[in-house]
Amino acid sequence: MERERVETLPADKKRSVKSFVLRSSRLASFQIEALEHYSDQYAIRFSGQKIDYGQLFNNNNPIIIEIGFGMGQATFELAKRFPDKNFIGIEVFLNGFAKLLHQVGSNDIQNLRLIRFDAVEVLESMIPDASIEGFHIFFPDPWPKKKHFKRRLIQEPVAKLLSTKLVKNGYVYCVTDWEPYGLQMLEVFDKIPEFTNPYNGFADPVEWRPTTSFERKGLAKQHPICEVWVQRI
Ligand SMILES: C[S@@+](CC[C@H](N)C(=O)[O-])C[C@H]1O[C@@H](n2cnc3c(N)ncnc32)[C@H](O)[C@@H]1O
Repeated sequence: MERERVETLPADKKRSVKSFVLRSSRLASFQIEALEHYSDQYAIRFSGQKIDYGQLFNNNNPIIIEIGFGMGQATFELAKRFPDKNFIGIEVFLNGFAKLLHQVGSNDIQNLRLIRFDAVEVLESMIPDASIEGFHIFFPDPWPKKKHFKRRLIQEPVAKLLSTKLVKNGYVYCVTDWEPYGLQMLEVFDKIPEFTNPYNGFADPVEWRPTTSFERKGLAKQHPICEVWVQRI
């Protein structure tokens, strides 16, 4: 029933990059209440209309988009740490969406809004070109089996799409604990002429990125953490 409240894909649309498979979500009562009480104020419904950031946030601060925030703890911490930036978190997983919605609503966080929808569709339909200061893509699903490589989010069409949405000098910051995927990210971004990689390979970690819950699982398995940072020329 909850899944019907915030749909993830227009009924007649075929996804270009299918980066996720929806898991069913059993929600705690605080999450159901968050969906009921906070959706109108803090969630953005998918539509074919471009977002008017000034109207949404009541200011002209830079916009950061996080794709696939999972349970949303890192998103929440960054929004609190950088009150002079506006954050839009996009996630299809209802459990995480409802959890972060609860945190945003109960703490009255003004600079964070959430969308429960396929991020590729959101970028194509709702995000004006040259309007985003940064994309955060922390631990995207690694899809390690060869037959699933096509589901990886960071592929040329999506990298190109990200480049069109960034302002000049805007950045894409991806982190993964799956090194082969990290290497693929470097290759993909290298093929997009609008991007430059100031590190010529994996980036140094930034001091402000919180450890995410997926990262903790990777670290427990002794996976290396690969950081990829590219900038729009
Ligand atoms: C491996 S989890 C990482 C979650 C979190 N960033 C972390 O580090 O703990 C990847 C998340 O991306 C979400 N996701 C994958 N493709 C997506 C898409 N196209 N649009 C929105 N969310 C997506 C999945 O639902 C999943 O929650």
